Amino acid sequence: MALLRSTILQRGRTMLTAFYRRLGSNYKDPGRISCVDMTDSGLLIQLNVNGSEKTHKLPYVYLRDNSQNPDLLTHSRQDRHLFDANIQATNVQTSDHGQQLIITWPDERVSYYPLSWLLQHLSGSSTISGRLPVERELWTNNSFESTLMKYDFDDLMSSDSRLLDCLIKLESCGIILVENAGLEPRRALSLSDRIAYPKPVVYGYDVMKLEVKPNASSLAYTNVQIPLHTDMPYCEYVPGILFLHCIHQVKGDGGRTMCSDGFHVAEELRIRSPSAFEMLSRYPIQFGDAADDYVGHNIDAMQKPIRLDCMGDIVAIRHNNGVRGSRFPSELMDRLYDWYDAYYKFSHLMYDPKYLVEFKLQPGQIAMFDNTRILHGRSRFDLGEGVYRYLEEVYLDWDEARSKARVIMGKNN
Ligand SMILES: [Fe+2]
Repeated sequence: MALLRSTILQRGRTMLTAFYRRLGSNYKDPGRISCVDMTDSGLLIQLNVNGSEKTHKLPYVYLRDNSQNPDLLTHSRQDRHLFDANIQATNVQTSDHGQQLIITWPDERVSYYPLSWLLQHLSGSSTISGRLPVERELWTNNSFESTLMKYDFDDLMSSDSRLLDCLIKLESCGIILVENAGLEPRRALSLSDRIAYPKPVVYGYDVMKLEVKPNASSLAYTNVQIPLHTDMPYCEYVPGILFLHCIHQVKGDGGRTMCSDGFHVAEELRIRSPSAFEMLSRYPIQFGDAADDYVGHNIDAMQKPIRLDCMGDIVAIRHNNGVRGSRFPSELMDRLYDWYDAYYKFSHLMYDPKYLVEFKLQPGQIAMFDNTRILHGRSRFDLGEGVYRYLEEVYLDWDEARSKARVIMGKNN
């Protein structure tokens, strides 16, 4: 196969670089395609970025599938073409001093790939698909106060930039606090509506009312302590974001919100006890819930307490001991002791003073939690004459919230 190594282009590129460097010290080398080499199994593309060379190999079908030509462009996804995996290029070359790759195909179509596109795509994605492109901030009890961002309710309702900042912070830290939401019911719903449609669940179509009631089917409707948990792990499609609007709060020390950064706890478990981490991230276990508070339901799902992506990054925590079932995968049955030991370690680590945070939600505040990450609970409170605690809860899916964030980002660009 032909080796395309254009010394003329390289010499031109070197001269151009030298010219730009003379223009000023702020010149930033954009890099270049220094060599392309056709092989039977794919195209070798050598890039020079900041003086270092790196070679990437891609099958032709990927390049044809991702042609940047308007006639083959797939961004609209309206008519994405299917290509034979064995497709081969008939010719490749570079242009514009290595700033563009040009491929000719057997049907005589020509595809163009700007260097900027190649730089973005040749190494694949190192981030979790779907997440907003922000660094994850793991927090502890010590750092919680500086981590917790507070937003004004009216600001979020009126300012796209504040709402975007809030969603990015929620992605990054897993929790934010909204103040001055007032005491009117359905304010959490108004806020979630500002982002997207709320998620209906078996406990309510839009707003769930959290108050003590007789014959409660859930600890959420009692005054006893609610242990750390994530909501509804028995669902395949777990609610992604949880809004808790405090409307009436009890006096004294009880009724405090507890929370712990599940991702940080799991990362610590990975270091302290790799075998326990492997056990909880490899095997799904049963969660289930049946009640008829709002609508008769009986939900059952097998979920991993720690869910990883293909690169080993933690993407979700599912933990709620009260709705944990008895069914285990068959291949785990002769390792149950190890499983319980691992689960005990994880369940206790989340209460470690290093990680556990307690604060008391005040009337007019809305806490927003990432329900795939943050373990939350509530301390017990005394019942008595005139004692009343009332919170409203709303769920939203992460897909919807991330979509809203990207729409706002698009308007800002
Ligand atoms: Fe909960």
